Amino acid sequence: MKLTIDRLGHLGDGVAQGPEGPVFVSGMLPGEVVEGDVVGDRMTDPKIETPSPMRVKPPCSHARSCGGCLMQHAADGFVADWKLGIVQGALQGQGLTTVFLPLQTSAPRSRRRATFAARRTKSGTLIGFHARGSDTLVAIPKCQLVHPDVMAAMPGLEELVRLGGSRSAEVSISVTKALGGVDVDVKGGKPLDGGLRMELARVVEAHAMARLTWDGETVALRAHPVQMMGRAMVAPPAGAFLQATEDGEAALLAAVKTALGDQKRIVDLFAGCGTFALPLAEGAEVHAVEGDAAMVQALDKAARNTDGLKKVTVEVRDLFRRPLEPDEFKGITGVVIDPPRAGAEAQIACLAVARPPVIAMVSCNPITFARDAKVLVGAGFTLDWVQVVDQFRWSAHVELVARFTAPHIARNKAK
Ligand SMILES: C[S@@+](CC[C@H](N)C(=O)[O-])C[C@H]1O[C@@H](n2cnc3c(N)ncnc32)[C@H](O)[C@@H]1O
Repeated sequence: MKLTIDRLGHLGDGVAQGPEGPVFVSGMLPGEVVEGDVVGDRMTDPKIETPSPMRVKPPCSHARSCGGCLMQHAADGFVADWKLGIVQGALQGQGLTTVFLPLQTSAPRSRRRATFAARRTKSGTLIGFHARGSDTLVAIPKCQLVHPDVMAAMPGLEELVRLGGSRSAEVSISVTKALGGVDVDVKGGKPLDGGLRMELARVVEAHAMARLTWDGETVALRAHPVQMMGRAMVAPPAGAFLQATEDGEAALLAAVKTALGDQKRIVDLFAGCGTFALPLAEGAEVHAVEGDAAMVQALDKAARNTDGLKKVTVEVRDLFRRPLEPDEFKGITGVVIDPPRAGAEAQIACLAVARPPVIAMVSCNPITFARDAKVLVGAGFTLDWVQVVDQFRWSAHVELVARFTAPHIARNKAK
């Protein structure tokens, strides 16, 4: 069957109109004419008859087999417009429009955390990513996405898998670039006993890893796996949330700072280990609220060990069940809110009543962002601008910062 791709779906697949409904075609771009067999709603063996002018040669030699990146066949400019369009579309769906600041994309080979799948094989080990929509593991020695410091950990990871992996089941290995060496978190490995623990610790030493955690247990801590957040040195708990790239984090922080201006009393909601709270505390008092106690502890310890910060207070709190109430924002002049993908329905309802002067909202889900934005705009806030930050290069993932100003601030700006 011959079809023309009309658009991209939300996972980056090409979508064409077939005789019996939409047909999904992986690795295609709008305007391309493709021919192949259609099974169900998917073209299985597409051949491109007319390529898009936006099609490029994938920069990574693993692009055909590896499922880690989905958009390497598209020019950067196309991906940027596509991601802007996703956010614009989500806002339009809620009847909203705004100004878009220039999009920023993270560089290749800048992802500071990767979660690899791995297993032992007859001849050694296999570590990599899964092929698209399949259990097949693909080795990725020339990966163009992951930071070289993470890739450099491979020989040590191979030893870990040889010792504590199996041939029948995969282990998952999260590797995070940190000061002091990589921070390695293994899940699904062999149960720890005295002998295995000692051998794993030897690998950590030999390969100068910072820390190894094995199914939730710290096996070796050679150095604290530190991240810089502004001037503060933070040692996040194993597996804690971190922004995906250092330049992406810098772009998000710059946008948050621009949004807040010189506000001096800030609440950071869904604060994680302090990505925004700690740098902001260099110029403002910050109250950081987060649901994960270990992350709050890391933030608090870093704040107490950093000279020259303004007052930082912390709170462990489930903001879905127990959002900060309107009267808790008394005296607060700026709010940062960076919820998980589900958004922050309950907290946004309270912010709509509290009406702090400025809200910097960070979001990794345009749909829940637009839903929450509509509530704020309905309460009189102005959505001044949105900046899309593409720190998930070559994926369908979108990240953004938006500024909302409360009614009286919006009036003053207009004067
Ligand atoms: C997108 S991350 C942002 C973290 C931080 N702002 C950063 O940039 O590193 C969302 C954070 O929300 C936290 N979280 C998830 N559900 C929560 C809840 N119900 N209440 C409070 N925090 C929650 C997660 O632990 C995570 O740290």
